[in-house]
Amino acid sequence: MAQPTPETRAARRRLRALRLALPADERRCAEQAITDALRRIRVFRRGRRVAVYLAMRGEVDLTGIIAAARRAGCELCVPRITSLRRGTMVFVPFHPDAGLRRNAYGIAEPVAVARQRLKPQSLDVVLLPVVGFDRDGNRLGMGAGYYDRALRQRRDAARRWKRPRLVGLAYSCQEVEHIRRSPWDVPLDLVVTEREIIQPARVADLPA
Ligand SMILES: Nc1ncnc2c1ncn2[C@@H]1O[C@H](COP(=O)(O)OP(=O)(O)OP(=O)(O)O)[C@@H](O)[C@H]1O
Ligand SMILES: [Mg+2]
Repeated sequence: MAQPTPETRAARRRLRALRLALPADERRCAEQAITDALRRIRVFRRGRRVAVYLAMRGEVDLTGIIAAARRAGCELCVPRITSLRRGTMVFVPFHPDAGLRRNAYGIAEPVAVARQRLKPQSLDVVLLPVVGFDRDGNRLGMGAGYYDRALRQRRDAARRWKRPRLVGLAYSCQEVEHIRRSPWDVPLDLVVTEREIIQPARVADLPA
């Protein structure tokens, strides 16, 4: 497995610390603003299948977003780890009364539905946690490659097929000037922060 450069490692450390240092009231305001932005751009529509995540310490918390998506009539799902050794996860249904347990990373996931995996291409939208982002849609995650593996069908920018749409949720302080994209990295279609909605211009999407 390719190892991250010392610069990438340092950036992850710095950005995670920044995220954790946000005061609770600022965090709540930011989460409300992000929820409002997602509603404004009509991410949540009846019948849409939307993958959310159950936040761990420091990540943008989705409690309000999950409630809004359910009210709007979306069908929700969440990641569930299938192999720690291979670093793989699948998306499974997330029912309001789902029993949850903590996985090896301390992240909550539904207990009973491991076999009900949903193909990534059957999802309309995936909301992704972000450690760092840049204006080209490049994303730094926690560094284990779970999302990059689960969404690898979306890596090929030349493909016309663009499902699911990948929406990174971040505090604006997570922005960095430039993140070097590795061959396995799946870029974001949209980044939503408490300040703005960033739609990266994809050079690879333009006709030659
Ligand atoms: N599709 C893939 N096939 C094989 N290895 C992969 C794939 N995607 C990622 N990896 C491996 O996973 C490791 C971690 O990837 P990366 O540093 O991009 O993590 P990340 O994007 O921060 O994590 P995540 O995707 O979980 O948010 C890389 O070193 C890479 O070798
Ligand atoms: Mg990556």
